Amino acid sequence: MFIMDNRAIGVFDSGLGGLTVVKELQKILPKESIIYFGDTGRVPYGSKSDATISKYVSEIFGFLSEKNVKAVVSACGTASSVIMKQNLLPKEELFTGVVVPACLAALEKTKNRRIGIIGTKATVNSGAYAEFINRMADDVEVFSLACPLFVPLVENGMFDEGNEITSLSVKQYLSYFKDKNIDTLILGCTHYPLLSSFISKEMGDGVTLIDSGKETANLIKKMLEKNDMLSEEAEASYEYYVSDSIEDFSENGERFLGRKIKENLYKKVF
Ligand code: DGL
Repeated sequence: MFIMDNRAIGVFDSGLGGLTVVKELQKILPKESIIYFGDTGRVPYGSKSDATISKYVSEIFGFLSEKNVKAVVSACGTASSVIMKQNLLPKEELFTGVVVPACLAALEKTKNRRIGIIGTKATVNSGAYAEFINRMADDVEVFSLACPLFVPLVENGMFDEGNEITSLSVKQYLSYFKDKNIDTLILGCTHYPLLSSFISKEMGDGVTLIDSGKETANLIKKMLEKNDMLSEEAEASYEYYVSDSIEDFSENGERFLGRKIKENLYKKVF
C-alpha cells in the first residue's frame, strides 16, 4: 500500500545556521513543506548548560508538535549533542539530529581512521560525536576542537569570500589540526558549512569535510521513504519562525537560501 503524508517537516536551530539543512532539504525533497524555527532570541546555545538547552529543546518540540509536523530535525549541533546525551525525543514525530548522520558519513569516508570534529564549546564538551564514533569503531582516533568565534561570524553575515576577519579566525583555530594528520573533518555545527570555503582552503585537499546539513537531509529523506511518508504535494510551502527580530533574519536568511522568506516569516517567543 502506498501512503503519503503531506504534513511539513519541522527543522530547528538556535539561529540562522540551520538554514543549511533547509537548503539541502529544498534541493533533494522539493515536494516537502518545511516549518523552520530559529531561536534567534536565545542564540547562542553553544555556551549554555545542558539543563538550559534541554528546556529550550522541549519547548521547541512542543511548538513543532502543535504545528502538526510529521518529522523533526534538529539542525543544531549543540542541541543534537544534548538531545543524544539526555535521551530527549519529540512525542511522536520521526526524529533525527545532526550527530549520527555526520558521524556515519565520516566513518565511511576516513581511510586513515583519524577524524577531526569542530563545533561549539557545549558540543565538544558533551563528547557526543567522539562517543558515537568510538561506539561504532573503537580503532578511530577523534580530535575535537571548539571554535567559538565561528558562530558570531556567520550570524553577522561575514561569510563572503575573502573576508579577512573570518580568514584569520579560521587559520588560527585550525592550526590545532596541523600535526594531527586527520583525513576527515566533521563540521559539527550547522553554521560552519557557510565557512566551508575558508575551512577547506586551510585544511587542504587531503581532508574531506563532512557537511552535517547534507548528511542529515539525506537521512531524513531515507526515513520518510522507509515509512512511506513522503509528500505528494505539487508545491511545497515554507514557514519560518524566529524568536527575535524578523528584519535581521530575513536579510541574512534570504541571502543564504537564495529565495524570499520575508512573506512567510513570523515571530514566536516562548
Ligand atoms: N546552532 C549551534 C550549533 O549548531 C551554533 C550556534 C549556537 O551556539 O547556538 O551548534
